Amino acid sequence: MRRLGLIGGTGLDYWGSAVRSHDINSIYGQPSADLTEYLIGSSQVFFLPRHGEQHQIPPHAVNYQANIDAFRQLQVESIIAVNAVGGISRLNQPGTLTVPDQLIDYTWGRAHTFSMSDGDNLSHVEFAKPFDGRSRSELLKAAAKAGVDVTDGGCVAVSQGPRLETAAEIKRFMQDGCDLVGMTSMPEAALAREAGLDYASLCINANWGAGLEQEPVSMEAIETTLVDAMVKVRKLLGILFEEFSNVR
Ligand code: HPA
Repeated sequence: MRRLGLIGGTGLDYWGSAVRSHDINSIYGQPSADLTEYLIGSSQVFFLPRHGEQHQIPPHAVNYQANIDAFRQLQVESIIAVNAVGGISRLNQPGTLTVPDQLIDYTWGRAHTFSMSDGDNLSHVEFAKPFDGRSRSELLKAAAKAGVDVTDGGCVAVSQGPRLETAAEIKRFMQDGCDLVGMTSMPEAALAREAGLDYASLCINANWGAGLEQEPVSMEAIETTLVDAMVKVRKLLGILFEEFSNVR
């Protein structure tokens, strides 16, 4: 049976009724919540709501180290992360889904590695392609099977939050070649790489980045878009878990 991790982001704090719940102790502290376990097809899926069960943990305060360590302890082979983002380039319009292939890290002050001090194993992980190719292609194939449109590729600007960006910041991200902006892909993706876990992201474009529209970005509009898009996300992931259990 294949063991997979699923990290839910804003709009996906709950997956369904679990067969088991895991309260994992990590030397890095508390994961965002207990991890819940599901048997879907022949996949064993461990779900973790990144922002906590009550959606109470802001992006900069998530214990990314403990979260990834929890998946490592549960011996998952790969992690699918769901991330709410703002769209910057044309294809990433609100309501659509994107499987990014690149990122630029603009975050600061987060515990971004397991090599924090002297006694730790120093690991300069290779990170040219921050998202795992096989997991990405499974997401794309599952989307095709589900009849859900997704954009293949894009560069995520990972901003510090929790505030939304200024218009100038979005302009800078655009000039840097970014297509989407979110707050949570880093250090999550890099820690997964350090832990030896394949990691890919399914991004939900919730709004246009700041300054790209006349109107200011509204949290109410973001929430409505996320609720609608989550139907597609659940359908796509359901197919991925059921039908791609034995492909590796
Ligand atoms: N910026 C950063 N993160 C986000 C956004 C945004 O506009 N929308 C949803 N998550």
